Amino acid sequence: MSIEIPEGLTELLQSFTVEVLRNQPGDLLEFSLQYFTKLKESQSRGGSPFGNEHNSAAAFRAARAVIFAEEPMQTDSENGEEDDEDVEEFVGNKPMRLLRCYLSVCAEAFNPDDEEEDTEPRVIHPKSDEQRNRLQEACKDILIFKSLDPEQMSQVLDAMFEKIVEAGEHVIDQDDDGDNFYVIERGTYDIYVKLDAISRCVGSYDNRGSFGELALMYNTPRAATIIATSTGALWGLDRLTFRRIIVKNNAKKKRMYESFIETLPLLKSLEASERMKVVDVIGSKTYKDGERIIAQGDLADCFYIVESGEVRITMKRGKIKEDGDGAVEIARCTRGQYFGELALVTNKPRAASAYAVGNVKCLVMDVQAFERLLGPCMEIMKRNIVNYEEQLVALFGSNMAITDSSA
Ligand code: CMP
Ligand code: CMP
Repeated sequence: MSIEIPEGLTELLQSFTVEVLRNQPGDLLEFSLQYFTKLKESQSRGGSPFGNEHNSAAAFRAARAVIFAEEPMQTDSENGEEDDEDVEEFVGNKPMRLLRCYLSVCAEAFNPDDEEEDTEPRVIHPKSDEQRNRLQEACKDILIFKSLDPEQMSQVLDAMFEKIVEAGEHVIDQDDDGDNFYVIERGTYDIYVKLDAISRCVGSYDNRGSFGELALMYNTPRAATIIATSTGALWGLDRLTFRRIIVKNNAKKKRMYESFIETLPLLKSLEASERMKVVDVIGSKTYKDGERIIAQGDLADCFYIVESGEVRITMKRGKIKEDGDGAVEIARCTRGQYFGELALVTNKPRAASAYAVGNVKCLVMDVQAFERLLGPCMEIMKRNIVNYEEQLVALFGSNMAITDSSA
């Protein structure tokens, strides 16, 4: 399930926050009431929320002061420099444009640029060798860590801290502010999403995986409640380190994968912004010639898109889990094609095995992201699943239910 963020919400809240910081009101509620009333009035007049242009320019400077403690300024001007005179003149001519400009400056503060020099102090939680080994083991398959370089990964591991949880404990509550991202070392956790005031369990984590990235990536309230259903152990990563390393790295990932993602027929039914969210959560994995990517009969937790190389899909009939003698090649997937969706769509074990032919690189998405982001692509996937049936009838000569991998 995906949570729609209404267009303009981020900008609206950011500009409001800037004004609160600038004015430091004693009565926040009263100030908010006035702010939004003025904003509405000025919208109808085509002006800025705080009326006179001097105020807007001051707000612009104040916004810069607040934001540029963290981020370099992005400007509209050709030479990339912006001084106060420019601001006044600009304001005088186009007050609304100034408002938009400073809103986009605010928005920029939440979108770190990976070229920027990193001078923030490091968060370090000292760990014993035994703890570090456990942590490394828990993190080895975490997809959003997959494209970090060794130095970034080491900083992430340094910053992580252990958290023991009890059955019934709420690790995250929907609508709260995001503080940490969590990697599961052990334990089971239910995911609840509230819709129209009704909370529903939409999935669970079973001794692996991670959660809590959305609020930190997009500066949004928590999108789900996570409740431990057993005692468990988690590794937390604080918001600042997450943003400094993971969000920054995502900007790089976007540049790397944007054009590839745009070409994928499967994702055509997604909005452009949703396609970019796919990039935020995918990891890239490489496989050597002959390496098994999926084993028939296994439980499924990932979905794959081939980035380079070729993947051989084989199937064995009968109650045999291992691929080996008797497995028949049923398909090949090349760049841009996907596999591993069937078990996620049908909630059944893997219907076939997948092997690398030569060196293979795949984009990988975990089951929670798959369910959250790829809903609009389900129709295409289901149509292709119907084709699998025909393919299997042609190969095996009889009708076999592909959704039953142990048939
Ligand atoms: P965040 O919004 O920061 O906190 C709750 C987390 O639950 C969220 O990040 C995701 O990591 C995780 N989650 C898992 N499934 C869902 C879902 N269907 N909708 C929203 N969040 C989900
Ligand atoms: P899944 O069952 O999750 O894992 C094995 C994958 O092989 C399966 O998803 C499909 O993506 C892929 N596949 C390709 N052709 C077929 C086929 N004819 N029958 C079943 N799976 C197939």
